[in-house]
Amino acid sequence: MEKYVINGGVKLRGEVVISGAKNAAVAILPATILANGPCIIENIPNISDVSVIIKILSEMGADIRVINKNTLEIDTTHITLPEVPYEKARQMRASSYFLGALLGRFRESKVALPGGCDFGVRPIDQHIKCFKALGAECDLQFGMIQLKAKELNGTHLYFDVVTVGGTINAMLASVLANGQTIIENAAKEPHIVDLANFLNSMGADIMGAGTDVIKIRGVKTLHGTSYSIIPDQIEAGTYMVAAAASQGDVLIKNIIPKHLESITSKLEKIGVTVIEYDDSIRVIGNRPLLKANIKTMPHPGFPTDMQPQISVLLCLCEGTSIVTEGIWDNRFKYVDELRRLGADISVDGRVAIIEGIKKFTSAPVKATDLRAGAALVIAALAAEGETVIEDIYHIERGYEDIVLKLRRLGADIKKIVTPDSVLEQVL
Ligand code: EPU
Repeated sequence: MEKYVINGGVKLRGEVVISGAKNAAVAILPATILANGPCIIENIPNISDVSVIIKILSEMGADIRVINKNTLEIDTTHITLPEVPYEKARQMRASSYFLGALLGRFRESKVALPGGCDFGVRPIDQHIKCFKALGAECDLQFGMIQLKAKELNGTHLYFDVVTVGGTINAMLASVLANGQTIIENAAKEPHIVDLANFLNSMGADIMGAGTDVIKIRGVKTLHGTSYSIIPDQIEAGTYMVAAAASQGDVLIKNIIPKHLESITSKLEKIGVTVIEYDDSIRVIGNRPLLKANIKTMPHPGFPTDMQPQISVLLCLCEGTSIVTEGIWDNRFKYVDELRRLGADISVDGRVAIIEGIKKFTSAPVKATDLRAGAALVIAALAAEGETVIEDIYHIERGYEDIVLKLRRLGADIKKIVTPDSVLEQVL
């Protein structure tokens, strides 16, 4: 068992360097399947979700050479079976990207229904709608989705909801299709643009990524490339909130300030000082902080993946704040854990009402998912006393070296690993 032990009350100070974007990496790595030659990918975050993708590629027969901790050379030329091993696929949401990438290259794919953080129902009907529109037949049997197409032909697609995963899969499946595909009501997140830039660097013809309408002209082949993944907007936002909550003064480096605008503007509204530079941002936590209302929206709105973290900060603001979750049905599960630390939050469906408190107090808590876990870490850093956080594997799915990065900022955080054999003797 692994847990974090955090002694709160330290004001974070110093510099932190942001890693590559998780949600770009988990799309770009499967996209190497479409290349006719080796790809060198830099700035890959060293996190467990990425390790799972790399293991899947390796088990499928890709040649993977480690150049350094964050750079890999991936050659998928020798993959012959368009099928993803069942157990690994169901561990994460992004395994669905193998459906699009394998379909694009082999005109068929077989992947288990994806897993991922539990925020209620997580359908993939829009992904399937897109594959079918391109000409694939779709079958679901024994927990596996199977796609088969005689040929893939460009199509005009309108997504019923704005979907990040659906937009990514549509790009993956159509870059090698015949003719032009138009995706309307496309997602506009920075990782959508990053995937399009990566595919274009392999010879794809994608225009409009980052807007509502993406146009993809199918090409015959894609070649290998060298590419560096963008910085992680949500990791950066998490450290911004941690700096503010701990009343610290932190320079967050290797970021793209434009990607953080919705977070920056909310922090400023609350009363936090944010100073932007070309590729870094300084956050100074002040008191008192003022209440704010936040609704999560697709990009460029306030990101749902920052909702638990900003809610922690709103707990420390004077007055009553309202947080409305605009993307997921059930993303307030962490509130029960936050209440153990003294939060005063009531939840009604997709709306949370947060009453400001003076400070958090410590307690043993459990991470319920990735961003919920990050939120608990922030609350524990700002709390009085020692907080123990269990189920930290959720956090390590998406934050590279979080303990080391926080320790360098002065935090009193330790990771305790108890070998299973010791636990068995005790239990
Ligand atoms: N939706 C449908 N049908 C679909 C697909 C989505 O109805 O076929 C709905 C969902 O139920 C949801 C909304 O559309 O209400 C948005 O879902 P989306 O497809 O955009 O989410 P996703 O691709 O499954 C990605 C991120 C999530 C992030 C969301 C929203 C990855 C691997 N995951 O998920 O990130 O919350 O976009 O921005 O990119 C995280 O990093 O912590 C995380 C959960």
